[in-house]
Amino acid sequence: MSVEDKVVLITGGASGIGKASGLKLGQDNAKIAICDIDQENGKETEKEFNSKDIEAKFFNCDVTDEQSVKKAVKEIVEKWGRIDVAFLNAGIEGPNEKISNIDYQDWKKLFEINVNGVFLCAKEVLSVMEEQGYGNVIITSSNLGMSALPEKAGYCTTKGALIMLGKSIAVDYKNEDIRANIICPGPVKTPLVTSRWEEIDDPEEREKVKEAIMNIPQLMEVQEVANTVYFLASDASKAYNGETFVVDKGAQAELVE
Ligand SMILES: NC(=O)c1ccc[n+]([C@@H]2O[C@H](COP(=O)([O-])OP(=O)(O)OC[C@H]3O[C@@H](n4cnc5c(N)ncnc54)[C@H](O)[C@@H]3O)[C@@H](O)[C@H]2O)c1
Repeated sequence: MSVEDKVVLITGGASGIGKASGLKLGQDNAKIAICDIDQENGKETEKEFNSKDIEAKFFNCDVTDEQSVKKAVKEIVEKWGRIDVAFLNAGIEGPNEKISNIDYQDWKKLFEINVNGVFLCAKEVLSVMEEQGYGNVIITSSNLGMSALPEKAGYCTTKGALIMLGKSIAVDYKNEDIRANIICPGPVKTPLVTSRWEEIDDPEEREKVKEAIMNIPQLMEVQEVANTVYFLASDASKAYNGETFVVDKGAQAELVE
């Protein structure tokens, strides 16, 4: 299994799952396009990867802004001549409320980043892949795209939509040697999860939430998800198209009664 020499675009590449995947693939000599809205972490990630002899570059990209996505994709193609793999992974968590309490603006923001952002990136990279005659898209959904948790309607709904977006890419491009698969991670130790307690002011409450999260039995390290991304980015997974890969240590398999 290898990803050697593949040009890999990663959105949300400056942190968490995206960064860990960039590192894993870069260590096998893939060229990594770190696409992120966070310039500070993005540049830091580029520096860190380069110091490990990984060919990587940061591209300032807001996935919700069509012009920004177009610019980043154009610059990546100018630099490396192609995009072999697009890991469309940037996402946020959104409001933790019952549906009647969700602010409509918060709901729309969540869709703007988690769904529309993936659509915009997919649209641009698929044009490149159509032209080059092959391609590989990997989308980050969540196990919460398959099962609901209380007070997570917004996040769950966006992640459910991504499963269908991934399957739709698979179906639309099946005759063009372009495939798409979806990963559905469970809870992973990244800023997306740790911010759940870091943003709580009351120290006692903060400690309580931290302990509860850190004691989730299926809480994963970023590298565990990166291993699945590595497999899907490699040609060893060529037979997979339109598949959802639940990476959650069995959390989603369990029905709690
Ligand atoms: N951490 C988990 O437990 C978990 C579980 C399941 C799914 N996921 C999904 O994994 C993906 C990555 O999350 P993570 O946990 O690594 O989080 P993270 O917060 O560590 O990383 C997310 C990255 O996305 C970037 N980003 C946010 N908005 C952006 C925008 N508009 N344009 C470009 N980049 C943007 C952020 O700057 C950040 O670098 C998300 O889609 C998330 O929903 C995470």
